[in-house]
Amino acid sequence: MSQNIETLLIENRQFEPSDIFKKLANVTSIDLDKDRLEFWAEQAKKLHWFKPFETVLEWNRPYAKWFQEGQLNAAYNCLDVHLVTHRKDKKALIWEGEFGDVRTFTYEELHQEVCRLATYLQNELGVKKGDRVTLYMPMIPELVIGVLACARIGAIHSVVFGGFSASSLRDRLQDSKSEVVLTASAGTRRGKPLPINDVVEEAVSQHDTHVKHIVVVDTLKLEGNFSSHQAEPMMSEDPLFILYTSGTTGKPKGIVHTTGGYLTHAKYSTHAVFDLKDSDVYWCTADVGWITGHTYLIYGPLSNGATCMMFEGTPDYPEQDRFWDVIEKHKVSIFYTAPTAIRSFMKWGDELPARHDLSSLRLLGSVGEPINPEAWIWYYEQIGKNRCPIVDTWWQTETGGIMITTLPGIHLMRPGHAGLPLPGITASVLMPDGTPVTQGGGLLSLMEPWPSMLRGIWGDNKRYEEVYWKTFSTYFAGDGATIDADGYYMILGRVDDVLNVAGHRIGTMEVESSLVDFQGVSEAAVVGMPDDIKGQAIIAFVTLKDGYLGNVALEKEMISHVSKMIGAIAKPKRIIFTPDLPKTRSGKIMRRLLKDVVEGKPIGDVTTLGNPDVMTLIQERFLS
Ligand code: PRX
Repeated sequence: MSQNIETLLIENRQFEPSDIFKKLANVTSIDLDKDRLEFWAEQAKKLHWFKPFETVLEWNRPYAKWFQEGQLNAAYNCLDVHLVTHRKDKKALIWEGEFGDVRTFTYEELHQEVCRLATYLQNELGVKKGDRVTLYMPMIPELVIGVLACARIGAIHSVVFGGFSASSLRDRLQDSKSEVVLTASAGTRRGKPLPINDVVEEAVSQHDTHVKHIVVVDTLKLEGNFSSHQAEPMMSEDPLFILYTSGTTGKPKGIVHTTGGYLTHAKYSTHAVFDLKDSDVYWCTADVGWITGHTYLIYGPLSNGATCMMFEGTPDYPEQDRFWDVIEKHKVSIFYTAPTAIRSFMKWGDELPARHDLSSLRLLGSVGEPINPEAWIWYYEQIGKNRCPIVDTWWQTETGGIMITTLPGIHLMRPGHAGLPLPGITASVLMPDGTPVTQGGGLLSLMEPWPSMLRGIWGDNKRYEEVYWKTFSTYFAGDGATIDADGYYMILGRVDDVLNVAGHRIGTMEVESSLVDFQGVSEAAVVGMPDDIKGQAIIAFVTLKDGYLGNVALEKEMISHVSKMIGAIAKPKRIIFTPDLPKTRSGKIMRRLLKDVVEGKPIGDVTTLGNPDVMTLIQERFLS
């Protein structure tokens, strides 16, 4: 598994935050002697609990219970707590649409909207605590309102990214057995309408889901004052949400997060890593359909009383300087985005950010995939103007919040290195046999339970135990990493059959299953090819049944079939037709050899193949 782990670092410079940043930072020192559980209990107590907890952690590997006797409500902690402070009239959300239209909500206004929808869901539709509600929406304020309304009444939200197809949405509706779907009349993308509601209709058209109600949230006219709505007291371990993510099988996993632990870490990490202050305008560019949008667009910033920017559009519409325009217009001070976006900005040229006043910025963040040192330096110089610390944050859907990064007021930054485990988090790089590596490469593991860890896979404990807890006695993250003499981690990427395309996780098996589903396809194998912008691009190798001819027209049809089955994010860049795939004598497809082909490396050991000759042909077809 770890044979390909190698270091490609070429940037040795280190960067230090300015003295003034260090002086004013939210976290200026770390108490290394502090007991870990005591530390987390202290963070948890910063939330508003209806009933206090007694036990910090109960750990029956691999099942954790944090703050178990405590009762709280996540939406209450994001909204109500601020209404009795100066933040009542502070902007909670500044939303900008594709066409430049702006809507803002103060904490009081957002609270009112959330209470209205919560009351409607409860009284009109009969949604109860523990029911699942799926949200399939564009990036409009109603999505945030929908998420918080669910949390307020104790319904478990399952947000499905608006770019997923009807068939992906149907799978997720079936798995979660959601009876209610929140959607919107229409979104827009690059000036064109996005038929979001039609996708929902298509997803439920075959009557094989449990959906009883489809609520078009943006056109729902809810009148009246509902601000006396009572937030449901939730046990700390009651589920807050399910979020589906790709794994190594064809079926996405519904990652389950609970209330108290998740919110403790969301609030703490936003405060510590983004150094959030009351005066900040904070912008996380992630879609709410991904974990980053959950934790760092909604729960983390709002529980800290931040002003959050939310943007519906794309970075290149109407022009490639749109993000810089948004930053200048709204005086964004903290900006959190993905390396794939940064690499696109680099390609589009330095003149575009230079046209804008970016002096409001004071901290930059990166997430989703390794940021190459060249992109890091560009981000630091062209966007941060050598003033703004960069936090390169490593984490996953499963970890719920940031695990490894630098604290901006304390640590030196090393381009390409995520940094160190956050206080309260213990990590290690392990050899395949579980021995810790003191310096060098191996497999990344989190060594002790943490509050925002996943509590399981929805309806599938066996898979949870197998995927995360069989490799080592500790949590296996699925990533390769190196650790150096100072304890800095560099994340090298996935070591399993999961691809990372433009910061999105895509399972090779999911793409393969959708290809095999296409008429005439006999077998398919998918691998990731290095891509300058997206990090990885999907290359599919396909064998056809007798009587079918692989040509450009068929390749196009198959690519659009994958897009229809999964969503545009899973589209293969190329399909290579081949009479056979490399297989061992027992019939196992050797993806590793296909990876060598797309990476332009010498082909590895073919002696175990039953059909070694096929590799030359595959290589020729790939290069042609
Ligand atoms: O491979 C790692 C990569 O993204 C994976 C998690 O994907 P997902 O659950 O979709 O969550 C993405 C947003 C948190 C990880 O296993 N990854 C995420 N952040 C980084 C990263 N790789 C390197 N550096 C990062 N900062």
